[in-house]
Amino acid sequence: MSRDEINTNTLLSKIDMDKLPKHVAIIMDGNGRWARKRLLPRTAGHREGVERVKEIVEAAGNLGIPYLTLYAFSTENWGRPKEEIDTLMKLLVEYLKKELTTLHKNNVKINILGNIDDLPALPREEVKKAVEKTKNNDKMNLNIALNYGGRNEIVNGIKSLIKDVRSGDVILDEINEEVFKNYLFTRNQPDPDLLIRPSGEKRLSNFLLYQVAYTEFVFSDVYWPEFNTEQLYKSLIEYQSRKRRFGGI
Ligand code: IPE
Ligand code: IPE
Ligand code: MG
Repeated sequence: MSRDEINTNTLLSKIDMDKLPKHVAIIMDGNGRWARKRLLPRTAGHREGVERVKEIVEAAGNLGIPYLTLYAFSTENWGRPKEEIDTLMKLLVEYLKKELTTLHKNNVKINILGNIDDLPALPREEVKKAVEKTKNNDKMNLNIALNYGGRNEIVNGIKSLIKDVRSGDVILDEINEEVFKNYLFTRNQPDPDLLIRPSGEKRLSNFLLYQVAYTEFVFSDVYWPEFNTEQLYKSLIEYQSRKRRFGGI
């Protein structure tokens, strides 16, 4: 065994398998800075970031974490230069093309959080294919937040809810938090227990605003392309050291 493997196994042995989070959400940030530090183009950072996606999905699956949400592209990321957006979309298509068979074999269900109708045709079709192929899988839910914005999700949810009230499908006085949850992309899913943000930034950047009311936040200074299995284990250990009170004593 290499020294890295020993280190990773030591960390793994510190994780309480009975107290794993059911839902882990990650803001995959820092690709550009990782590349800049190495005098590489930003796209090289995104490419290396995809390697960590594969690694973290596998590690979370091996632990038996049933929900993993990855923030891949925000509604605000459309403001980036066209070439960078094109690269990100290309990497998404490549990832799905290469990994879909393995993900399906591993019983992973792919869900998209975000409006995929606004994506360019190629990624849109690839995403639809992945969702359709894996829709009956039930070992792990892999949510990819794509063209996702928390405020957009809430506003669109309210619009759909109003339509249902108007049509008589929902009664105004019966609307409560449980009812409203069904109008979010995460309907039928538990709220994230743990939210991880690498790259040193300490903000939500419009991610899962409604769902993180009682989520534990773990921030890491490493950039996403360096966020490996060991980093995931460290985040889980930190999460397990927290005392969650949910407003109680
Ligand atoms: C995350 O890395 C990838 C996306 C937001 C799509 P960034 O591209 O934001 O990298 P930094 O934050 O500029 O380092
Ligand atoms: C958040 O990262 C979005 C994703 C990781 C997809 P950003 O890099 O877009 O966030 P800000 O601009 O630093 O807040
Ligand atoms: Mg960033």
